[in-house]
Amino acid sequence: MPSLVLVGGFYGDEGKGKIVSYLAKKDNCTIAVRGGVGPNAGHSIVWQGKTYGLRMLPSAFVNPKTRLMIGPGVLVNPEIFLKEVTELGAERRSSLDPLCAIIEQKHIDLDRGSEHLSGKIGTTGTGTGPCNVDRVNRIVKLARDVPELNGYLADIPVAVNLALEKGENVLVEGTQGTFLSLFHGSYPYVTSKDVTASSIAADVGLGPTNVDDVLVTFKAYVTRVGAGFLKDELSAEETSKRGWAEFGTVTKRQRRAAPFDYDLARRAVMLNGATQIAITKLDVVFPDAKGVNTYKNLPAEAKDFIKRIEDEVSVPVTIIGTGPSVEEVVDRRDEI
Ligand code: GTP
Ligand code: IMP
Ligand code: MG
Repeated sequence: MPSLVLVGGFYGDEGKGKIVSYLAKKDNCTIAVRGGVGPNAGHSIVWQGKTYGLRMLPSAFVNPKTRLMIGPGVLVNPEIFLKEVTELGAERRSSLDPLCAIIEQKHIDLDRGSEHLSGKIGTTGTGTGPCNVDRVNRIVKLARDVPELNGYLADIPVAVNLALEKGENVLVEGTQGTFLSLFHGSYPYVTSKDVTASSIAADVGLGPTNVDDVLVTFKAYVTRVGAGFLKDELSAEETSKRGWAEFGTVTKRQRRAAPFDYDLARRAVMLNGATQIAITKLDVVFPDAKGVNTYKNLPAEAKDFIKRIEDEVSVPVTIIGTGPSVEEVVDRRDEI
């Protein structure tokens, strides 16, 4: 902080939403702003016993004082945006940039109707790829052209940079994961733009010299939805046996799973310029870690695992998830 960019270190679904919501409360962020591709993302947040699935708004809504923004780089589906604003009762604190590109039904139809996209690549079918194609062709509709969005438009880069000038904390929320990046991922099994920290910062109008921290989030094992290589992939049976079975927030597809990949993590740290690491789902691999809030109370094997990650990637693990709830976190930032 004051400005922290949070990104996924593997193939998305690392639990970024839960970490963002924790940080928004803990660090009293005045702004949480989404970068990334668009509503192909699905963040699950468990807050006060209720589970929320967000695809457009930042997961920081759990802090009522945090303003929720969407940067110009992000693709917006107006229907999903307006639904989430209403569901969260966040009308007065939600905004998006007039330059956000708009996903239309034709983009969704093209995505779902394409054997290459929905068949071979296994896209989420949310229209993001075809919408980015129209954006690059400079024919896409923008948020400023949609009357229903009129009351929500704001110059997001100005809001973000002004808040930082005033010394406020700003959280920049990335989506997808490093190896789904169009540039750095396992092409062609990737999403439709770069999603590493530099691009996420650019999505919201934050220049590289104005980024203070880059927090790369890894899950305690690796998951992947859709097609593409996954090192040491487990069978669906073994995945369930280990208790690692997960289902997508957006597509409901079962996520493929593999053990933690230290080489991939080291590369993600390099590509994103990570200053800190968050590890989620430690409780799933080490059940005795469930709900623990202090590092010293974690089981010995869990501490060995964290230590090995730090040794292999040479960046401190500052935040650890010990359960799906926003409060189930070990925060080591004061100790490191
Ligand atoms: P994308 O932007 O789509 O990549 O999503 P994401 O990174 O926000 O992750 P997503 O919410 O899709 O998946 C993570 C899942 O793990 C959710 O169901 C979370 O509730 C859950 N989760 C997050 N952190 C923890 C944790 O520390 N322990 C446990 N048990 N579950 C967690
Ligand atoms: P698209 O982004 O919908 O075009 O999908 C391209 C690839 O990225 C597919 O393998 C999707 O499953 C994957 N993908 C896109 N967004 C996410 C996400 O938020 N979490 C996990 N996988 C994603
Ligand atoms: Mg997800």
